[in-house]
Amino acid sequence: MSVQRQFTPLLTFLVIALGAALFTGCEAPGSEAETKKDYLAAKNYDVIQGEEEAVLTEPPMVPPPIDRDYATKVIVRLETLEKEMELADGVKFDYWTFGGTVPGKFIRVREGDLVEFHLMNNPENKMPHNIDIHAVTGPGGGAASSFTAPGHESIFEFTALNPGLYMYYCATSPVGMHVSHGMYGMMLVEPKEGLPEVDREYYVVQSEFYTKGEFGDQGMQKFDMAKALNENPDYVVFNGAVDALTGDKALEAEVGEKVRIFFGNAGPSKTSSFRIVGEIFDNVYQEGGVATNHNVATTLVPVGGATIVEFTTDVPGSYKMIDQSFFRAFNKGAMAEMQVGGEENLLAYSGKSDDRIYLPEGSAVQEMPGGEGEEQIATVSKEERIQLGQTIYTQVCQACHQADGNGIPGAFPPLAESDWINGNVNQTIAAVVKGLQGQITVNGETYNGVMPAQNLSDEEVANVLTYVYNNWGNDGSLVTPSQVASVR
Ligand code: HEC
Repeated sequence: MSVQRQFTPLLTFLVIALGAALFTGCEAPGSEAETKKDYLAAKNYDVIQGEEEAVLTEPPMVPPPIDRDYATKVIVRLETLEKEMELADGVKFDYWTFGGTVPGKFIRVREGDLVEFHLMNNPENKMPHNIDIHAVTGPGGGAASSFTAPGHESIFEFTALNPGLYMYYCATSPVGMHVSHGMYGMMLVEPKEGLPEVDREYYVVQSEFYTKGEFGDQGMQKFDMAKALNENPDYVVFNGAVDALTGDKALEAEVGEKVRIFFGNAGPSKTSSFRIVGEIFDNVYQEGGVATNHNVATTLVPVGGATIVEFTTDVPGSYKMIDQSFFRAFNKGAMAEMQVGGEENLLAYSGKSDDRIYLPEGSAVQEMPGGEGEEQIATVSKEERIQLGQTIYTQVCQACHQADGNGIPGAFPPLAESDWINGNVNQTIAAVVKGLQGQITVNGETYNGVMPAQNLSDEEVANVLTYVYNNWGNDGSLVTPSQVASVR
């Protein structure tokens, strides 16, 4: 390998050194290795000792922390691969990748390391690719030295001068198009002293996809340049696909563990408002640099930017990781999940301890008779249940079943004179506490909608159904909380 191709600054140095040597009459530097050593010393860079192959990992995993206390030459081999994968359930997309995954493989080096980077473009690929690593100081972040046609391999070197978390991208024209096909990943340059020890580390990247069809349209979806130009993505996802990190692929942790997430925003267009619902980040390394902020709920991550967040999990349960731009999270896929196992921590969070009727001053029904004790509740009369039930009906059911109980033809079945409810108390209780869907027939009309399960206590269900049964020509049944409890 020629010196020039590998290390252009070195050439500049050689010229200066040679000039200086001639001028002063000193000897010119000797072997290539020695020259490099002198150069590094003159620049206050670490002397490189030995070499090793980089451990690269697929998302959401991260290579182990570096325990070296010296700089070395790290050889990174990354192959670009174009392949069809699932963007969502039943939706296919032609991905272009670094290493076969989106995001690409995670690279971890130590500040001061000399990186010998090999970019291989698989011979089966159709496109040329290159790599712009944000950790590189030099033209194009390496892109200028790494343009690689299918079936070729490019090699270039750089020193990881600045600690931090960095995105890498394919920067081959048209750049936005390569990025929109999945060509990005992350590189961590660990500070010399290392990062504080944690129990778990994960790797998550947000990005957008622009498809000919709408969100969820089935089959093979082609890239849509017009939508990309309008910055109007159909998909905003974590780790390359809808549900890449949910269900049995959710991130995991145990109560009491320290968790670190290396988070990047590949874009190509949208800034991310990164949050884990129900967690507060103890530390946020802003923009992936060294300044840390504390006690942050939502942090902003620009396109091409990164952040490192650290938190301790205190309460078990399922945590949603989102881009807080709500429609992206709930309608375009920007939602991941973290399952935290372990003992309840009632001091930090107790769960719902009670659900009681709330009657503002001046409302039609003033007081809940009885009180909170079991025996007192048992004394609630039918008339009182009807009265209390009316309030619940107005607040909860009326929006769909209407004030007069007649429902809306074709959408919400009637509760008035309903042959579905009369004589079938248990079925009616089940509909309210468990929800109801699928085709049903009420008074000869069929309905095929969805009634969500209503989040009401036994007492409330008893009251609202007693109200329903004692109005609009229904059969006058009394529904009790114990009846509701036995159906639930
Ligand atoms: C968001 C709209 C919605 C709300 C709120 C709602 N329902 Fe329903 N309900 C429906 C739909 C839709 C169906 C039909 C479901 C089907 O066809 O599968 C239904 C069906 C029913 C049925 C069986 C069919 C009938 O008409 O006899 C009962 C009983 C019922 N709801 C009671 C209630 C009660 C009581 C409440 C309040 C506690 C309530 N619903 C709140 C939408 C709603």
